[in-house]
Amino acid sequence: MLESYVRKKLSRLFTGESEIELKDRIPSFEELNRKFQDIDELGLYLHIPFCEQICPYCPYNKEIYNPDLAKRYTIAVKKEIDFYSNIVGNKPITSFYIGGGTPTTMLYSGIEDMLEHIFDSFNMQCEIHIESHPNHLSSDNLNTITSMGVKNLSIGVEALQDRHLSTLKRPYTTEEVKKIVNRVVNKNFKCVNVDFIFALPTQTYNEVEQAGQILAEMGVDQVAAYPLFRFPYTKMESNGVESIFNLSTILKRRKMLGILENIFYDADYDRTSVWAFTKKGIPKYCSVTVPLYIGLGASGGSYLNDIFYLNTFNAAEYIKALENGGTAIALSIDLSENMQMAGWLYWRIYETKFKKMDFKKRFGKDFDSEYGKYLKPLALPGFLKDDGEQIVLSDRGTYWLHAFEDLFSIDYISTLWGTSKQEPWPEKVVL
Ligand SMILES: C[S@@+](CC[C@H](N)C(=O)[O-])C[C@H]1O[C@@H](n2cnc3c(N)ncnc32)[C@H](O)[C@@H]1O
Ligand code: SF4
Repeated sequence: MLESYVRKKLSRLFTGESEIELKDRIPSFEELNRKFQDIDELGLYLHIPFCEQICPYCPYNKEIYNPDLAKRYTIAVKKEIDFYSNIVGNKPITSFYIGGGTPTTMLYSGIEDMLEHIFDSFNMQCEIHIESHPNHLSSDNLNTITSMGVKNLSIGVEALQDRHLSTLKRPYTTEEVKKIVNRVVNKNFKCVNVDFIFALPTQTYNEVEQAGQILAEMGVDQVAAYPLFRFPYTKMESNGVESIFNLSTILKRRKMLGILENIFYDADYDRTSVWAFTKKGIPKYCSVTVPLYIGLGASGGSYLNDIFYLNTFNAAEYIKALENGGTAIALSIDLSENMQMAGWLYWRIYETKFKKMDFKKRFGKDFDSEYGKYLKPLALPGFLKDDGEQIVLSDRGTYWLHAFEDLFSIDYISTLWGTSKQEPWPEKVVL
C-alpha cells in the first residue's frame, strides 16, 4: 500500500504520469516507417525463449526447448527480420545482442540460420554478444560459437559453492563449472562475462568473498554480480515475497557488493555498471548499447524515441502471428518527453557515469535545468561527483541511487512480464 503510494508520487514527479499504461495499440507499417526516417543508427536484440530447464528464481521469458517449435521459431524470426529490413534499409546496426532464455539451446537448430539472415538483411556494423549456459560450452560447441563470428560471450555461472548451486537448482558442480570457465577464457574471445548471483538464502560474507576471489583468479574479463532479485511470479517466490523496503536485505546486499568491489578493484577491474566489473582496457560486455533499438523474437522490445512496444511473450503465438503475415507486437506505449528523459536518466545512473552534453544532444535541453535540483544535493554526502561536464557516481551513490530505482523497476518488470507471460495478447497493462 505504502510502496504503491510512494511509487505513484515519484513517478508523477519524474515522468508527469502517476500511472504508465501499455495498450494493445499496434503501430502500423507506415507509422513505423515514418519513425525510422529520423533515426541514424540502431541496436538489435534477438530473444531466444528456450531453456533445457526452468530455474526457480528466473524472471525471464522462456519455456522448455522443443526442436519442432525451435524450427518454426527460426522461420518466424526470419519473417520478422524481413519486415524490419524493409523499413530499416541500409541504416547501420551498431550493437547486437542475443539474449534469452538460453540462446545456446538453439545451436545447430536455427541460430546459425537466423544469424546468417540478419547479416544478409541488415547493415551490421558491430560484433555479436550472446548469452550461454555453462553446460553448452563443450570444446566442439565453442568452436561452433566462434565460427559463427561471436566475439563476446556471457556464461551463467551463478554460484561457486555446491550448496548454492543446489539452492538455485543449477545442473553442475563448482569443479565442473570452473573447468568450463577456464576452457572459455582460453578461447580468445574479446570479452568473456560471467554472471554471478549473490545475497542467496543463508549465504555468508565469507562465501561471497571466496567466490569473488575465484572469479578474479580465473581471469574472466567481466563479472556481472547481481543480488538475488525476487519476482512474485517465479517458483522460488510463490511462498511469499520479501518487501523491497526490507532494510536488512538492502544493507546485506550493500555489504556483499562492497566485498566484491574491493576484490575486483584490487584485481584491476573497473566498475562499468551498477552490477558489472570489467578488466581495464577490455570493452564491456552488455546488452544493446545504443539508445534506439529493435527487438526480435517472442518478448522482444523495441524503443524508437517516442514509442516503446513489445512482442507477445508466447512463442507459439509469436510464430502464429508471423505465419499469418502480421507482426507479433502485443503492447505499445507512446512516450511523452518527460518519460523519455526519465528513461534516459535511469540508464545513465545504471551505467554510473554520463556526460551532460549527451543529454543536450538527445533532448536539446540543459541537463542541470531539468535534473540539477535533484542531483546537486547528492554531491554533498559523496554520492556523486559533478565537474560541470560529467557526473560520476561513487560506489555508495551507485548502490543507493540504484536501490531507489529498484523501487520502480522490479515492480514494473514483475507486472509487465508477469501479465505478458500469462496473457499472450493483453488488452492493457498498467504499471
Ligand atoms: C538469461 S540468463 C543467462 C543465460 C542462461 N540462461 C543461464 O541461465 O546460464 C541471464 C542472467 O540473469 C541473472 N538472473 C536471472 N534471474 C535472476 C534473479 N532472480 N536475480 C538476479 N539475477 C538473476 C542470472 O545471473 C542469469 O545468468
Ligand atoms: S536462468 Fe537461464 S537457464 Fe535458467 S530458466 Fe532462466 S534463462 Fe533459463
